[in-house]
Amino acid sequence: MIVRALNARDADAMARIHATSFDKGWSPLDMAVHVSRDLCLGTGDPLSGFAILRRSDIDAEILTVATDPACRRRGHAGALLEAAREQLKRDSLRHIFLEVAEDNEAARALYERLGYQPIGRRPAYYARPDGRVAAVTYALDLSGNRSTHPPASLDEATTAR
Ligand SMILES: CC(C)(COP(=O)(O)OP(=O)(O)OC[C@H]1O[C@@H](n2cnc3c(N)ncnc32)[C@H](O)[C@@H]1OP(=O)(O)O)[C@@H](O)C(=O)NCCC(=O)NCCS
Repeated sequence: MIVRALNARDADAMARIHATSFDKGWSPLDMAVHVSRDLCLGTGDPLSGFAILRRSDIDAEILTVATDPACRRRGHAGALLEAAREQLKRDSLRHIFLEVAEDNEAARALYERLGYQPIGRRPAYYARPDGRVAAVTYALDLSGNRSTHPPASLDEATTAR
């Protein structure tokens, strides 16, 4: 699967996919700002999926990843996150972090399959129409060593914050 760097011409399609994937959509203008300053990767033409990562000199954070509902379970998100991992590892970054809603089983399965380790839990982090849901924080060690000394349990990580 071909993964490409996105540019301002992709902003409308990114916003469209985001709106079908999350309750709160990000506008085409939001997306144009992201492509100007973050690592934005996409698959497909027309766009089928995309990922946005914010990077420092040391670490990176996945801000979002989404696949068009009509294209899911075809490897788009996996290809995007693997391409991001390779690029950031080449650039000698140390970790990729992310936060995901605890009840987002698809995303958690995706990250865990790619080797991300749960390192923390933030209770009542995301608002939902019917209440609040916790966020789980994951990390991927780009050195290739999967034992990033994760806490013995998520509760321990929460306490440590
Ligand atoms: C999560 C999401 C990005 C996955 O995208 P995708 O392109 O369908 O993912 P892939 O096809 O690359 O899946 C790779 C692996 O992840 C896991 N996975 C993905 N979707 C899954 C699901 N619905 N249920 C269980 N496991 C799933 C599987 O292990 C899958 O491999 P397999 O298909 O060989 O079993 C997509 O469902 C989505 O856009 N969801 C809405 C937005 C979102 O929640 N984003 C993440 C939070 S930031």
